[in-house]
Amino acid sequence: MQKITGFPQNFLWGGATAANQIEGAYNIDGKGLSSADFVEYIPKDQRTKDNHMEVTSDFIDKVKSGTYNGHFPKRQGIDFYHTYKEDIKLFAEMGFKAFRMSIHWSRIFPNGYDETPNEAGLAFYDDVFKTLKSYNIEPVVTLSHYETPFGLTERYNGWVNREVIDHFMRYAETVFTRYQNDVKYWMTFNEINIINISPFTGGGIISDRLKNPLATSYQALHHQFVASALATKRLKEIIPGAQMGCMLARMKHYPYTCHPEDVLKAQQQDQMNLMYTDVHARGEYPNYYMQFLADNNIVLDIKDDDLDILKQYPVDYISFSYYMSLLSSHTPEGETTAGNLMNSLKNPYLEASDWGWQIDPIGLRVVLNELWDRYRKPLFIVENGLGAIDEVVDGTVHDNYRIDYLQQHIQQAKKAVQDGVELMGYLAWGPIDLISMSTSEMSKRYGFIYVDQDDYGNGSKQRLKKDSFNWYKQIIATNGEEL
Ligand code: BG6
Repeated sequence: MQKITGFPQNFLWGGATAANQIEGAYNIDGKGLSSADFVEYIPKDQRTKDNHMEVTSDFIDKVKSGTYNGHFPKRQGIDFYHTYKEDIKLFAEMGFKAFRMSIHWSRIFPNGYDETPNEAGLAFYDDVFKTLKSYNIEPVVTLSHYETPFGLTERYNGWVNREVIDHFMRYAETVFTRYQNDVKYWMTFNEINIINISPFTGGGIISDRLKNPLATSYQALHHQFVASALATKRLKEIIPGAQMGCMLARMKHYPYTCHPEDVLKAQQQDQMNLMYTDVHARGEYPNYYMQFLADNNIVLDIKDDDLDILKQYPVDYISFSYYMSLLSSHTPEGETTAGNLMNSLKNPYLEASDWGWQIDPIGLRVVLNELWDRYRKPLFIVENGLGAIDEVVDGTVHDNYRIDYLQQHIQQAKKAVQDGVELMGYLAWGPIDLISMSTSEMSKRYGFIYVDQDDYGNGSKQRLKKDSFNWYKQIIATNGEEL
């Protein structure tokens, strides 16, 4: 076998976004509300809990009645709905081969349960895809990225109810049919594992309406697994040759010490993270997961055909986000730090971002090798990046800290390719500054392109190229040769 020296020739370099974090125009051209429209911005010094994305029934009632005076930045995004042509032009200037975006489900079916789609919403994405095509940028489309139509929350309490599968399928079939000549790469649910950490974020579920929120979140997950497999089936029927991926927030756990109990704990926590890709890729629930359910007295309502459907329609590729690694300990002691919707013990060997997320480039190589060994399916890094505070100096941002982060991660991805991993592409999260998923801040920036907008939506929205813009352009131009 020939020695592998670098990334394959057709490597999909680019960036990744989500509709609710960029589009804005939340009530324009027939769009309905989505779960993201209820995530409030709370200044750092006023935050009282780890996860401000979860909402209560009281809060929803107050917001809906118009008596609540909060700021909801995802309603405004960065106005991509009106600026997509100039933004995509900038992506093309960087040489993007691929652009990950989601379709905002409630732009197509405003309530989620409507019988017919909203033509204005469909037409918007027609034009986005046309613009991408004019620059030979391949769209990579997520069907559901933390933006469940709010109508489904009101009528069914989101994915708790099995009927949502039918509504999702109507939506999936509509967009597969409409965009069959435009989109080859699809994925169903962004970071499907988040539904069990933040049910409102992952499934439009208001937990205080449930008797047993934990058990119900696993039932809702089952509905999403079935919906995902059915969507894979329909995709193949409607667009032969298209590919479906799953999407996992990969949370790699290292043992805190070499104490065997810590090693075991890390393995167990890792298994519970990989359970989601096990089901998507292998098409069955693993035994360790069935034991977890039994230990927690959770009995899933699984219909006759469900397990067959999971088995028959696994995904084609495994896509995942990677931002950090975590530590597992069998004792609860130790200093903790924040993470992507999950806290961790502090790793003394790693630095952390301004938000406490531990920076671990080598962990990416570890993760890639493990996923490849486990599934032997092509892998796709569809999110990776550094959220940081940027300062504009003389009309630009000198973001060498971002360049360092990305460079170190891409170097490790390249080493994994040299290890023999089959990697389809690398998509940096937030190639243009966007609204933060977890805190709804604008000041947590990931982009190569700066957007002049503050946490309250003030600013000219002008786009500026940061230093990382030309750096990434060069990486793509040389296919990662010069790192
Ligand atoms: C991922 C999400 O978990 O992390 C994105 O898929 C999100 O939507 C990204 O934006 C970064 O998280 P945050 O909270 O910094 O925006």
